[in-house]
Amino acid sequence: MATVLDIGVDLGTASVVIYGKGKDVVLNEPAVIAFDRDTRNVLAVGEEARRMMGRTPSNISAIRPLQNGMISDLEMACTMLRYFVGKVVGKRLIGGPRILISVPSGVNEMEKHRITTSLFETGARRTQLIDRPIAAAIGAGLPIGEAYGEMIVDIGGGMTDIAVISQGQIIATNKESADKIGGDAFDDAIIRYIRRKHNLLIGEPTAEDLKISIGSALPRNEQFYMEITGRNLISGLPKVMRITSDEITEALDDPLHDLLEAIQAVLEKTPAELLADIFETGITLSGGGALLSGLSEAVALSLKVDCHVAEYPQECVARGCGLTLENWSEYGRYLNDRKKRR
Ligand SMILES: Nc1ncnc2c1ncn2[C@@H]1O[C@H](COP(=O)(O)OP(=O)(O)O)[C@@H](O)[C@H]1O
Ligand SMILES: [Mg+2]
Repeated sequence: MATVLDIGVDLGTASVVIYGKGKDVVLNEPAVIAFDRDTRNVLAVGEEARRMMGRTPSNISAIRPLQNGMISDLEMACTMLRYFVGKVVGKRLIGGPRILISVPSGVNEMEKHRITTSLFETGARRTQLIDRPIAAAIGAGLPIGEAYGEMIVDIGGGMTDIAVISQGQIIATNKESADKIGGDAFDDAIIRYIRRKHNLLIGEPTAEDLKISIGSALPRNEQFYMEITGRNLISGLPKVMRITSDEITEALDDPLHDLLEAIQAVLEKTPAELLADIFETGITLSGGGALLSGLSEAVALSLKVDCHVAEYPQECVARGCGLTLENWSEYGRYLNDRKKRR
């Protein structure tokens, strides 16, 4: 019989990442599912579904079931998750995996319950939730058990989790605040900028491409260019344009400002001793959004505190879940969720 593969799962708004205990990251796919709207039959999941986004006929939907840090379609979120977990653990009738999962903080208790119990259909024998900032901090290698303040900023697609952690506890967070500024907000800002400045309408994939390829939070020393095709809003026809990296930096100014304000607000809620610790060691960035060029420098410059990007930032949450399974005696006590057994 196959050896039991316990897994740590990051159910994100943009991607699902799975860490196999003792195996490292084993899956990293877009959190997208495509289905027939009339029958709700699933047609594609992950990368294949993502390629269908914006290109489907009217009876087919290719959606992200988690948006803005919240669930937009619970049934499809569960189906997508079970598909990915099944892909990793295979079919096993007995001795199923133990699953530690992290979900966006906008997911409510009822939804959390549905997500964890729906995983039993994959054969899981035990499922448990871990707070996202805790998982991100463990995955980023921060010594969260110490009586010392650490700040983690996990920038996802639909939201950003900001938290100060000490002795394994979250001391201050942006969890209750309304602005959940993530990488999607950066893409939207690029779409608005290109429309306003060039009368050109572009889609989200093009905006994200611009951000990843030539975008930067601070002006670059060397100028980069990218050619894009959009729809000219006056003629209605396709038009090719060359966009510069400085233009993207300008476009990102507003969401960057919002992100900095959100970090500042959490720092203001942080007790003085822990604040002093953070100003000594600096802020750690994780999540795919942390990969934006110049972002840690922009945070450091604006908040006057050191800031660094974690290693493999986009995998931190899944790694944190997996490392917790691997070092249960050390990290298991930071979970405040009751385990569910089949
Ligand atoms: N190289 C990059 N530069 C800037 N942003 C990036 C880069 N790579 C990924 N991203 C952004 O990271 C976000 C997704 O991060 P991720 O951690 O996967 O999200 P989530 O945890 O919500 O699933 C998206 O907004 C994506 O555009
Ligand atoms: Mg993430």
